[in-house]
Amino acid sequence: MCGIVGCIGSSQAKDVVLEGLKKMEYRGYDSSGIAIINDKLRVYKKAGRLENLLEEIKDKPMDTSIAIGHTRWATHGEPSDFNAHPHTNEAKTIAVVHNGIVENFVSLREMLIKEAGVHFVTDTDTEVIAHLIGYLYEGDIQQAVWRAVEMMDGAYAIAAIANDNPDILVAYRKDAPLVAGFNDTGSFVASDIPALLKQTKDFYLIENDEMVVCKKDGITIYNSEHKKVDREIFHVDWDTEAAEKGGHPHFMIKEILEQPKAISETLSRRLTDDNKINLDGISLSLEDIEGFTKIYIVACGTAYHAGLVGKYIIEKFAKVPVEVDVASEFRYRDPYIDDKTLFIAISQSGETLDTLAALREAKSKGARVLSIVNVVGSSVARESHDVFYTWAGPEIAVASTKAYTTQLVCLYLIALYMGRLKGTMNEAYYIEIIDELKKIPDKIDELLESRDSIHDLANEIKDRNSFFFVGRGLDAAVAYEASLKLKEISYINSFAIAAGELKHGTIALMEEGTVVVALATQDFLFDKMLSNIEEIKARNASVLTVAKNDSNAKNYGDMHIMVPVAKDEVMPLISVVPMQLLSYYVAAERGENIDQPRNLAKSVTVE
Ligand code: M6R
Repeated sequence: MCGIVGCIGSSQAKDVVLEGLKKMEYRGYDSSGIAIINDKLRVYKKAGRLENLLEEIKDKPMDTSIAIGHTRWATHGEPSDFNAHPHTNEAKTIAVVHNGIVENFVSLREMLIKEAGVHFVTDTDTEVIAHLIGYLYEGDIQQAVWRAVEMMDGAYAIAAIANDNPDILVAYRKDAPLVAGFNDTGSFVASDIPALLKQTKDFYLIENDEMVVCKKDGITIYNSEHKKVDREIFHVDWDTEAAEKGGHPHFMIKEILEQPKAISETLSRRLTDDNKINLDGISLSLEDIEGFTKIYIVACGTAYHAGLVGKYIIEKFAKVPVEVDVASEFRYRDPYIDDKTLFIAISQSGETLDTLAALREAKSKGARVLSIVNVVGSSVARESHDVFYTWAGPEIAVASTKAYTTQLVCLYLIALYMGRLKGTMNEAYYIEIIDELKKIPDKIDELLESRDSIHDLANEIKDRNSFFFVGRGLDAAVAYEASLKLKEISYINSFAIAAGELKHGTIALMEEGTVVVALATQDFLFDKMLSNIEEIKARNASVLTVAKNDSNAKNYGDMHIMVPVAKDEVMPLISVVPMQLLSYYVAAERGENIDQPRNLAKSVTVE
């Protein structure tokens, strides 16, 4: 979604903002812009890559100590120079950048046309904010923003500057991410911590309905009653290197390769030396856990696919029914929830609006909310009763990889904890699974070392345009994630289905040229999968089998990926890795923009 960054005080304000925009490119965007004040308010904006904006401003007078910038992901109005942010009032004295949606922008626009004779020049909802602030401005930008936000509905974060108040930058948060920070050169705001990591590692996390007023010498936060708020500093220990590519051609491959380390980190935060799971910071008691009669796992995209694995293992280990739902459906279907319901929200960013809205719905109906989140201090984390962090480090590529595997690790740990506490899992089985989890990082390392063979396979199939991913049990759950990975970065039509469902319709699509990736890592379902593979082969499709090293899968299918052996229960952690690599290499060979695929954003903060 859109990215916001602002700086005041520093003589390098323009560079700080441009650097921040660069760091936020990974969120996905289709245009960018910057507003500065020197002899007057100046706004520059361009559709397309940030390079277009840099080209646009290269000969312009850009000396300034106040600037706001924006990367846009279009919601209202096509991506164009026109619709790019910042937007201004008619007098061009106030500039605004905005992330989110103003739901009542139509009525506000009508009011502004009628009462102030405003001429709108873009298709965006953001232009309404600029004109509204302009309409309410009586010489004090802070007061004008207060009055404007009182009239705006929706979920948004904004930053605004005014020609006549060049020593103040105002930002406001309502349901969209916003952080602020400072150093001895000035103060900053951004929608994203990585945007400001070069300036500071100490942040204020801005809450909903709060205003941030930035000046050269510091930051003041106000609550909805306009009272000053004391906010603790939130220190991040990410280094800028962790948010950079470190010599790899793309963030995606860097993040795939980081998985052994990320998984070890997630495990080590929760596993004690004597194989107990410590739930420090999580207040679930035995009574709570025994009392849950139902669990909902709710998430979007890859996080939802992690939830599909979670269902299998929680039901198996903890013997409690689990329903998995996509957040955009859950929030509108009036789900049955009571105080015996555990609601598990999964989100890498912790800012996905649908997941946040589903969480609020569940909470308002009395559910206990436990979230699995990567970004510390994010909205989902803050609004949950308890948080299980994934500790994957910053995930920059739009295609999620290490967030998925660490989400799985959290789900395994939650299932094991519950199973052991409730006595639905015996001690020997519990220890067996823990031992298997501990071996996963080495097994993934083994797979990663032989990634050239997957690159070769990718070269063989990169020009095919119809893919299916099939599997049974846990392999079906992985098939959904594998298919999403391929389609989102290579734009190849790809579809996932439980293998047993094929013959109920989808097999009609099998023909020569189709590639079917058949995941067959579950020993007890292996023979069934072989039958499915035979059915597919009989329709002349090409089969790429993914199976354990010790199986005889090489006798079946046309192409093979043989993976390290582990117990069936933990195989998703292993089998998904070659699927990520395959998608990555196919997209790379097709020359696609892997880290920022078309039409996608890293953090989806609109409905
Ligand atoms: O930040 P979240 O985990 O809440 O994001 C959910 C999805 O938007 C995300 O997983 C998306 O599907 C990724 N592009 C998948 O690679």
